Amino acid sequence: MKLSKFLTLDNTETFLNAEVQQTYHSQTGAVEEALKKYSIPCKIKELAKTGTVRILDMFFGIGYNSAMAIDVALEENPDCKIEIVAVENDPEIINKIKEVKPPIKSYTLYRELVESNEIKENKKYVYENNNIKITLFVEDAKKAAKNLPEKYFDAVFYDPFSPKAQPEMWEIELFKEMFRVMKDSAIIATYSCARIIRENMAAANLVYDDGPIVGRRGPGTIATKWV
Ligand SMILES: C[S@@+](CC[C@H](N)C(=O)[O-])C[C@H]1O[C@@H](n2cnc3c(N)ncnc32)[C@H](O)[C@@H]1O
Repeated sequence: MKLSKFLTLDNTETFLNAEVQQTYHSQTGAVEEALKKYSIPCKIKELAKTGTVRILDMFFGIGYNSAMAIDVALEENPDCKIEIVAVENDPEIINKIKEVKPPIKSYTLYRELVESNEIKENKKYVYENNNIKITLFVEDAKKAAKNLPEKYFDAVFYDPFSPKAQPEMWEIELFKEMFRVMKDSAIIATYSCARIIRENMAAANLVYDDGPIVGRRGPGTIATKWV
């Protein structure tokens, strides 16, 4: 069993991955992290006022980050059209969606998607209702990124395992793909403030700044396009 469930300090569940020796969320609060490190710095509420929001949820895991963004957007504008494109390569963690109960209303959509499909690698899954479209690519992030449309997303949630555990997910090449798929006005957010990841963002023409400090000493990082 590589995955074990535990409760974080905001009383919401996450998992520890014994192979990577990493948790899927901050131990100080899994759902708190989704809201404060991703939805708020990426201005999901403000985007919802415009009537459409397109979010790229990189390293989807159990999907808290984008599920929370759907809640935030709908609370601001119940008629908002929301498109989520999610990328995750591990069916085992996606299936854990069935085992958690975060206080996120829209999580039922993710549960429905997982319960009505057998999640397999190198497959794409789509959930759609009137306002919301969710497309989940179960494949390697580098491969999936190459096939995403140009200048399409308003926000990118960038949530791989740490730069030490998975340096290849923080390389210039992948940040260049993020630059390519971001609208000129888009914001990318991540929890890490490591120097190497910021240098790699800058090399991909992303202009970084401190993101919020949530549950750890350092800030996260947010970045916009140098255009
Ligand atoms: C920190 S966790 C993400 C947590 C997630 N955002 C959530 O809310 O549950 C990092 C995720 O990256 C995934 N991952 C690792 N390598 C990957 C790769 N090459 N391509 C796509 N996803 C990958 C892991 O399986 C894991 O789910």
